[in-house]
Amino acid sequence: MKSTPFYGNIIPLAYIEQTVNPTNRYPHIFRPLNIGATTFRHRIMVTGHTQLYGENGTLSERHIDYYRERAKGGAALLVLEQQAAHPAGRNYHAGCGAWDTSVVPWYKRLAEAVHEHECKILAQLFCAGAQGSSTQYFDDWQPLWAASRIPSAVTEEMPVAMDQANIDELVQYFARCADNVRQAGLDGIEVHAAHSQLLGEFLSPAFNKRKDQYGGSIENRCRIILEIGSAIRDVVGPDILLGLRLSFDEYLGPIGITPEQSEQQIEIFSASGLFDFFDISGGGYHNLHVAVAPMGTVPEGFLVDCARRAKKVAGDRAKIFIVGRFLELSKAEDVLSAGDADMVAMTRAHMSDPFIVAKSAEGREDEVTRCVGANVCVSRLISNREVTCMQNPAMGREKLWGAGTLDTLSAGQQRHISIVGGGPAGLRFAATAASRGHHVRIFEARAELGGRMYELASLPTREGWQTAIDNLVRPLKRLGVEPNCKTTITANNIDGDIIVCATGSSWDRSGYSPYRPERLEIPGANLPFVVDLGHAIKRAVADKTALGQHVLILDETGEYHPLGLAELLSASGVKVEIITPRPFIGAETQRTMDLPHVMPRLKAAGVKITAQHFVERIEHRIAIIYDIWGGEPYPINDIDTIVLGMTRSPDDALYRQLVAEGRTALKIGDVITPRPIEAIIYEAEKFARSI
Ligand SMILES: Cc1cc2nc3c(=O)[nH]c(=O)nc-3n(C[C@H](O)[C@H](O)[C@H](O)COP(=O)(O)O)c2cc1C
Ligand code: SF4
Repeated sequence: MKSTPFYGNIIPLAYIEQTVNPTNRYPHIFRPLNIGATTFRHRIMVTGHTQLYGENGTLSERHIDYYRERAKGGAALLVLEQQAAHPAGRNYHAGCGAWDTSVVPWYKRLAEAVHEHECKILAQLFCAGAQGSSTQYFDDWQPLWAASRIPSAVTEEMPVAMDQANIDELVQYFARCADNVRQAGLDGIEVHAAHSQLLGEFLSPAFNKRKDQYGGSIENRCRIILEIGSAIRDVVGPDILLGLRLSFDEYLGPIGITPEQSEQQIEIFSASGLFDFFDISGGGYHNLHVAVAPMGTVPEGFLVDCARRAKKVAGDRAKIFIVGRFLELSKAEDVLSAGDADMVAMTRAHMSDPFIVAKSAEGREDEVTRCVGANVCVSRLISNREVTCMQNPAMGREKLWGAGTLDTLSAGQQRHISIVGGGPAGLRFAATAASRGHHVRIFEARAELGGRMYELASLPTREGWQTAIDNLVRPLKRLGVEPNCKTTITANNIDGDIIVCATGSSWDRSGYSPYRPERLEIPGANLPFVVDLGHAIKRAVADKTALGQHVLILDETGEYHPLGLAELLSASGVKVEIITPRPFIGAETQRTMDLPHVMPRLKAAGVKITAQHFVERIEHRIAIIYDIWGGEPYPINDIDTIVLGMTRSPDDALYRQLVAEGRTALKIGDVITPRPIEAIIYEAEKFARSI
């Protein structure tokens, strides 16, 4: 028997409309929007976001399932992940191209899957420009095309400046792609001219240094897009939608695209009569941390001023879509009611919970798994791996774990399950097992739930992690499972048909480093002024001076914890130094886009950061440091506390004891081995579905 899982209700919007009236709650959202011949049933959309589920250069079954789920969940418009318009414009390994007719059957299936749920879908056509990779496709290496010979700060590749023949070819390729889109029955096309990819480069004075008719004046910089728009219109006619995605502000000051320049561009594009909408974004590859802002950095709807200005220029000649960290329908409602935009995009919000619209429309906002800005999604994209959400392991696995896939148990199959540990593994396992009908109890030794997430939530700007904990706890409460906190469990006071050990892991105290495999510990790491990262954070949160006035953090994690601890301490005047043997500090936080936000704050607070250095030994209040490439070691003196941010080890004592006693025990999460939180939540879901 199938049931609706707690995190993804499949109630169709038609049903919602009959039972409750969402127009009362969000009157400006639940108003149809007409653009040309197309009617959108309401005003919440999802902008293009690359999932990397492609196979053989085009879409896959995984894509169809992914978009169908979000259509089912109530979105009015989905923009398909960027589709390269030309072979020179591809970037990611599993990226898709749109120029070959082989895409038509895929697009057709996609359109059918989405239309079945009264949702519209547009293809986003793009070229990566300097942001591509010339050696990505093994049998088709070719130079990158760009507006000018300016390399990307991300890929660091020198592109070719396109000549007239290249430009003419590109325009023709866009037209070919458009014909494929038209034949397949998608609802339209968004030409991607944002985020300093190829067409964004043409628009930007920072990346377009051309002296011909495509460079110099704003009119000239817009020319290639007008030629593309015109070629597309010739193919698709007036009846399917055509829009442009633009970075309204490149955040480069007067050297890049400024809001004032964008107003002029939008005037030119509106006057052309080619475009039905402008989809307003901001930033580029040089500052992706703004375009895809992580937790604790920008306010919800931070680009609304841009939309308001764009709308004023476009008037009734084109509609304005806006994006930018929208997390709740209520904020979107405010924007729409003020008339600042015609549609609001909630993109990561739909990765985290595809049913956010349906649930909110029904007044079940407390059932939404709210996006917290952890940016595991974009970090996976940057690592060229399939994109998924840290909180939603069903993202990209809709066929397996999407709405309606959870089996409930028949009478007699239910077990009494005791879960020890209220971190991400225990909480997720508990909710899924309870949803299936098991009798679940969960125990946590600390007063607070969340485990490792709670540690993170206590650091400056990391409140989003508390939201992630709340997202895990709310379903449990709805299922009538009340977590037992402040309850220490041993093998003697626990029972149940199955005991699930989700007791997590602890930071190591030995100082073992994979960079020094010949030694098992740092000499002197056992001195009393040396503490591990977990205890250091706990003590500093309780009392910011508890670690003294001079703290040295040794970081091998590349994660946020050491940076957050440094920020917490330095804000209270503590002198903080961080040393890492890695090439630079915070590699993980660079991928999640946190690094460019936190580093200036640390610099301003006087935190000293030294990369490619490590510790030879520790003496009383002294660390002997060395440059990993050679040279004489030197001391750092008068240290009050040394913090070890090194490896973690499983807290598996309970599991081992239960197994020794021959009892039925299961270990999950860090108890198996410490891993990223998304891997832990995935595993908890997998195991809880299998028992
Ligand atoms: C994993 C990921 C992939 C993205 N890929 C694209 C893309 O293919 N095309 C595009 O225009 N924007 C892309 N974006 C940017 C989003 O469209 C959107 O502008 C951004 O996520 C901010 O919106 P949000 O705060 O609602 O998530 C991507 C964002 C993420 C997180
Ligand atoms: S990984 Fe984080 S930022 Fe990305 S969708 Fe999930 S919760 Fe949001």
